[in-house]
Amino acid sequence: MAGNWKMYKTPAETTAFFEKFRPLVEKSEHCEVVICPPFTNLAAAAGAVNGSAIRIGAQNIAWAKEGAFTGEISGPMIAASGATHAIVGHSERRQYFGETDETVLKRTQAALEFGLTPIVCVGERLEERESGNTEAVLVSQFQKGIAGLTEQQFAKIVIAYEPVWAIGTGKTATPEIAADAHRAIRGQVLAKYGKQAADSMRILYGGSVKPDNVKILMAQPEIDGVLVGGAALDPVGFASIVNF
Ligand code: PGA
Repeated sequence: MAGNWKMYKTPAETTAFFEKFRPLVEKSEHCEVVICPPFTNLAAAAGAVNGSAIRIGAQNIAWAKEGAFTGEISGPMIAASGATHAIVGHSERRQYFGETDETVLKRTQAALEFGLTPIVCVGERLEERESGNTEAVLVSQFQKGIAGLTEQQFAKIVIAYEPVWAIGTGKTATPEIAADAHRAIRGQVLAKYGKQAADSMRILYGGSVKPDNVKILMAQPEIDGVLVGGAALDPVGFASIVNF
């Protein structure tokens, strides 16, 4: 169960969140819990969850270790601030910041190189769904991005299916729509990496997940977890999603 805070919260607000959130999920052993705050809060977040099972992730990661890349944050920097995960290829990065399948692959490889678990996002836009191209888009994002990983690398990633039309819009994909997309992605994994990889990999659903719809989404065997934006900002709300 992963929370993506996007561009919200200061370090002080981060600490306040975990004071409330941590006791609410202390006994939640049925899943892994990851919160991805802005880079500037990673250290505060990692400090606040120290000694618990909650993990911290970045929302992006540079493809290089260091260098002249103004505004980028590298894997070693993220790891040194106490994070263990990194979201890669979120649709907002693809849409507003020029992220492509090629850079998604490079960033994913960098996360793995520096010991971080990448949460790699794929998903179609509204016009792509309406024109019947959802599966073609997912296949293309998989083939041009994720499929560049070796088998060993692939075994360490998590995929998040986030239909762009469902993100921040209040329009959740129906459990059936989400499950169909997850099946299409798993089919690609099966063809490229084999049955064991397809069976053991985790695919999260993201897009307007809320405390009141998490149960029906998680009831789909294809959905292994969720990536939550807006509803992850509130400690009580996100705890109720974790403890669905
Ligand atoms: P949302 O965002 O839950 O606010 O729709 C999900 C995401 O972008 O990861």
